[in-house]
Amino acid sequence: SVVPLREILADAFDKRYGVPAINIFNDLTLEAVLAAAVERRSPLIVQTSVKTVKSIGSDVLYRMWTAMTDGIDVPVTLHLDHCPERAVITECLERGWNSVLFDASRMPVAENTRQTVEVVAEARRHGADVEGEIESITGVEDDIGSDTAAAQQDLAVALDFLRTTGVDVFAPAIGNAHGSYKRAPVLDFQRVSDLVAAHPLPIALHGGSGLSDEQFRDLIGRGCAKVNISTALKETYMKSNLAFLRAAEEKDKWDPPSLFRAVRADVVELAGSLMTLFGSAGRA
Ligand code: 13P
Ligand code: ZN
Ligand code: NA
Repeated sequence: SVVPLREILADAFDKRYGVPAINIFNDLTLEAVLAAAVERRSPLIVQTSVKTVKSIGSDVLYRMWTAMTDGIDVPVTLHLDHCPERAVITECLERGWNSVLFDASRMPVAENTRQTVEVVAEARRHGADVEGEIESITGVEDDIGSDTAAAQQDLAVALDFLRTTGVDVFAPAIGNAHGSYKRAPVLDFQRVSDLVAAHPLPIALHGGSGLSDEQFRDLIGRGCAKVNISTALKETYMKSNLAFLRAAEEKDKWDPPSLFRAVRADVVELAGSLMTLFGSAGRA
């Protein structure tokens, strides 16, 4: 069933497993990640970027979501990823999204805090949850962000942000980056432990694509209950299409449903393998 983000994260944080938060971008990827969750008996966080919301439209996107999750028997939730635009936050909350990431990480912390307090109040009126971010995660994700990393804030500043705003999950910069890593990431594992020790709140691990199994396991064990994956799905989707279409050209055979079947199988496999790796498989 469709449940609040905080419900999915509370269990994951408590038992120290990670829930994949996967950025879908069309009907096929949405249907395939939901199918993977049912197949692996896993909770799932479905994310939409602002770009996806604008390309499909929040109305059609939300109708797809309700149609495809109707009667689903594992816990799933719909989340708006990195959103600096208050108007898009309001639009998605009014539509029925379960949670939003208000990304004001380019603003000074004081202004970010002030506006996040407003977003939390707005979300609560809809029974929705909020992810907070005060340090811009390195790299561009669907046109949002920058390749220059924002400075990590002092632990005290981060804790003050968490206590003042009452966000449900926090996205820290720990050497993680959006996109595929150009060189091996050097991660600040201890920062996750320090945050969780001082303020026991689920942590969102951004920039998941490109991290090693060992890095995932370590960070999840420290409290990263929400694990964001975007680039890996885009790559799988595009490469699967490319491989199929090359073969189709070779055979001069053009049957769209068989393309969809092939791509869907690859997306289901990717999502399912993440559920197993993060330990969310078998929890629902
Ligand atoms: P990747 O694109 O590196 O998987 O990062 C995903 C993410 O953090 C989405 O917010
Ligand atoms: Zn991110
Ligand atoms: Na990444």
